[in-house]
Amino acid sequence: MHHIILDDETDFDGWRKAARALALSDVKPSDVTWRIAGDAPELFEPAAPPLEPPPGTFNVPARFVELAEMAILHRNPERFALLYRLLWRLRQNHDLLDIATDPDVAEVAAMAKAVRRDEHKMHAFVRFREVGREHTSHFVAWFEPEHHIVELAAPFFARRFADMPWSILTPDVCAHWDGHAVSITPGVAKSEAPTADRLEETWRRYYASIFNPARLKVKAMQAEMPKKYWRNLPEASLIKPLIEGAERSTSAMIENGATEPHKAQKRPEPPMVRRKGQDDIETLREEAADCRACPLYKNATQTVFGEGPQTARIMLVGEQPGDKEDLAGKPFVGPAGQMLDRALEEAGIDRSTVYVTNAVKHFKFVPRGKIRLHQKPNTPEIKACRQWYERELAAIKPDLVVAMGATAAQSVFGKITPINKNRGHPIDLDDGTRALVTVHPSYLLRLPDADAKAQEYRRFVQDLKIAADMLRKSAHAA
Ligand code: URA
Repeated sequence: MHHIILDDETDFDGWRKAARALALSDVKPSDVTWRIAGDAPELFEPAAPPLEPPPGTFNVPARFVELAEMAILHRNPERFALLYRLLWRLRQNHDLLDIATDPDVAEVAAMAKAVRRDEHKMHAFVRFREVGREHTSHFVAWFEPEHHIVELAAPFFARRFADMPWSILTPDVCAHWDGHAVSITPGVAKSEAPTADRLEETWRRYYASIFNPARLKVKAMQAEMPKKYWRNLPEASLIKPLIEGAERSTSAMIENGATEPHKAQKRPEPPMVRRKGQDDIETLREEAADCRACPLYKNATQTVFGEGPQTARIMLVGEQPGDKEDLAGKPFVGPAGQMLDRALEEAGIDRSTVYVTNAVKHFKFVPRGKIRLHQKPNTPEIKACRQWYERELAAIKPDLVVAMGATAAQSVFGKITPINKNRGHPIDLDDGTRALVTVHPSYLLRLPDADAKAQEYRRFVQDLKIAADMLRKSAHAA
């Protein structure tokens, strides 16, 4: 029996070295035990001399190394043994990883996926609290990761908060950034984490301002922000009253009775038969959460996927999430979103019936002090993200896609498409869907001249009215 002792929970190099030596010595997986230094030894575990690898080499697919590096961060205590068993079997069957139904392959893949998901949750739910003031201030966060992901997730925070010193405390290990390097120290008790600060109220006010009761979906909200994270979020204390408030206003609306919508605003009946999409939007959203198709995921907080009913007949496409969308994880909730909401309402389109998305699903920015300045996505980034737009289109199968701005138009038409030349009239896409090109609402926000702004806003509403009319006509014809 061989008893392998690894340095710590995330000692991939130690595991790799031992696994290589064991495999080259033809040691069967059932003849090995694995533990972490400091954990209780096996009963009758003799002090063993380090295993010396015999000469020789063997290859495993690069995919296995990537998978093992992720899966080893899972909290499953059997992970070292499971990975060694998979390595052992890969030597006999080089293509084993292609057999997704194999129990070992499936378990390791699920573990790697859970680790990536946990990393994503950490990026989204760490909240720093300021300790000390001005020149001596330091930002400290408490987080309880599900898996051993602190070292994996830390570079994201170093890039994102490059010019503020921070520490992320967890029960496993703590990560610290001093402006130059990340250092890792042993874990601490929750009592060592600060609980309140002057930034907290700002964050709570911001959260309350982006909470939209008309679009409240408690289940989706809980799926994205599971309850176990609430206790460490400053905005958590707002969630319950905001949900209850939304329920109260809904009940009040029911008690007051329905108001007849203005004629022009009456929504057409949905057609009887809806074509079914390939993918379910929720499945796509989950998949896209781990997207690394271009480098933008590195600095963004999270993927901001499209939102709206799968039965939507209009799909609105913007450019990319902005600062507020990046934090909230929802498209068009910031100033451009408010402008869009207003214009949709004036055009007689109920936003809750349309699917809203972006050509690029990660926020691209450059940090300027505490501000994150929006950067226009480039062609490789638009192309890398187009797969998501295509799959959203296939899932929703809208009657009309509205491309707002140049980036959206480039994604929708698959090539650079000038706005002014193509604006304001329906264009048939290759797959039979119709598209309408218009400006991006942020363009209206940026116009310095008030008259020009008012005039351009009217044109934007006019374009959206064309969309509303087209739908009304197609519904009558159906
Ligand atoms: N601008 C966009 O294009 N999309 C958003 O979600 C927000 C601002």
